[in-house]
Amino acid sequence: MIVQPIKTEDGSDSLFVPELNEHYHSTKGALQESRHVFIEAGFNQIGKKVISVFEVGLGTGLNALLTLNEALQKNISVHYTSIERYPIAMNIVEKLNYAALIDERLHEAFMLLHTSDWGAETKINETFTFQKVKGDLANWQPDRMFDLIYFDAFGPDKQPEMWSEEIFSNLYQATNHNGILTTYSAKGTVRRALQAVGFSVERIPGPPGKNHMTRAVREV
Ligand SMILES: C[S@@+](CC[C@H](N)C(=O)[O-])C[C@H]1O[C@@H](n2cnc3c(N)ncnc32)[C@H](O)[C@@H]1O
Repeated sequence: MIVQPIKTEDGSDSLFVPELNEHYHSTKGALQESRHVFIEAGFNQIGKKVISVFEVGLGTGLNALLTLNEALQKNISVHYTSIERYPIAMNIVEKLNYAALIDERLHEAFMLLHTSDWGAETKINETFTFQKVKGDLANWQPDRMFDLIYFDAFGPDKQPEMWSEEIFSNLYQATNHNGILTTYSAKGTVRRALQAVGFSVERIPGPPGKNHMTRAVREV
């Protein structure tokens, strides 16, 4: 997949996919969107000292880096699994300005997220264990249970097959009791598909530039 680097309005980098006419993040601000949707509405709601995360779409690694940073600051132990079908090239990764914006000291960890072996469990630091899966979410079989799912696929209009009940059902089965799935999309079809497979779903305020987003909880 061909991607083009872009700068978003909060100064953080993102990527554009001409083939889909789609961005990896909100053009209003990649960093502020990821913080709002995945860290504040997701990670900070779990309330456990040991958290297992599954991310749909590693992409730039921004969500993984923000989670690593949050885990370090709060002394939370994280096991982070991320699936990616179309890994981005290292010459593009090297130009992303996330560590510079979040904390310069995270640069090495950010590079390690991208250079770690696919399939292997890599200890990035004392609190963060990382496992990248190279493959298609449609064929993924979970081998553990998760407290938190970052659903960060391309939009439901661009990649509708990723937002199907079949996929959500697979994720629901892999979600712990009181576990959360969080996503930037607030589309009615997405909320209904999540509800249909068993999640309790709420529409909550979105990041700047977006009225709403979706959070789903596995209550039983
Ligand atoms: C909206 S981007 C977000 C990526 C990432 N979370 C970030 O912050 O950069 C969606 C990601 O899903 C990946 N993707 C697309 N189709 C996929 C599939 N079938 N299985 C796994 N990942 C997929 C894309 O390559 C892309 O990295």
